[in-house]
Amino acid sequence: MARGRLITFEGPEGGGKSTQAGMLIGRLEERGLEVVYTREPGGTKLGEAIRGILQYNTAGEAPCAESEVLLFEASRAQLVRQVMLPALERGAWVVCDRFFDSTTAYQGFGRGFPVEMMETLNQFAVGDAVPDLTILLDINVSLGMQRCAKRQAGHKQQYDRIESEALEFHEKVRQGYLELARRHPQRFRKVDGMRDVEAIAADVWKVVSDVFFAEG
Ligand SMILES: Nc1ncnc2c1ncn2[C@@H]1O[C@H](COP(=O)(O)OP(=O)(O)OP(=O)(O)O)[C@@H](O)[C@H]1O
Ligand SMILES: [Mg+2]
Repeated sequence: MARGRLITFEGPEGGGKSTQAGMLIGRLEERGLEVVYTREPGGTKLGEAIRGILQYNTAGEAPCAESEVLLFEASRAQLVRQVMLPALERGAWVVCDRFFDSTTAYQGFGRGFPVEMMETLNQFAVGDAVPDLTILLDINVSLGMQRCAKRQAGHKQQYDRIESEALEFHEKVRQGYLELARRHPQRFRKVDGMRDVEAIAADVWKVVSDVFFAEG
């Protein structure tokens, strides 16, 4: 059985990653593929415990910026070994709602840690689980935050620690993602996330079809 494919969704808050990942999975499953969905941080028992620490300070204190990086990488390393590689090896497709580019964008470009160092840590965490395709859902950060605020209105849960960062932080993250897409043009495809859900889904499907299902 051929190894499956690894597709990641990346981008600033509220760009529609979770929405579009769900829609893409539906379309891939219609083609008879086994698809595994993962989100970061989380996806394993260890990862979900780390998610609580990172998002809601469940350890009883906020992690310092250095710990934050390492906790994300620890969650990721566990997810790769326990879930992603076994799935890929049995031929399943894996769709990730955020993956290692989030660390480069948020902790590298956003918090200001050296980007090369983030990339080295990412490599250590994931080994050869490098995405075949990364879809960057680009969105203006105020529009993204407005969408998140709307989503929040229906829920009791507070904004998490990273969502609560200032708009300038999120702007650095957005610019960081755009830079990553320029640096890795083979792997990245940028999709305009500022339109309606269906228009974005059509573009996402076009990209996926071009990359994986093109004739010839
Ligand atoms: N194209 C769209 N137009 C308007 N609203 C949208 C669109 N796509 C998603 N939404 C809504 O905006 C909110 C954020 O979308 P979603 O959760 O998919 O984004 P996300 O990128 O996963 O966000 P986060 O970074 O917080 O995980 C949700 O309430 C969703 O229903
Ligand atoms: Mg999401």
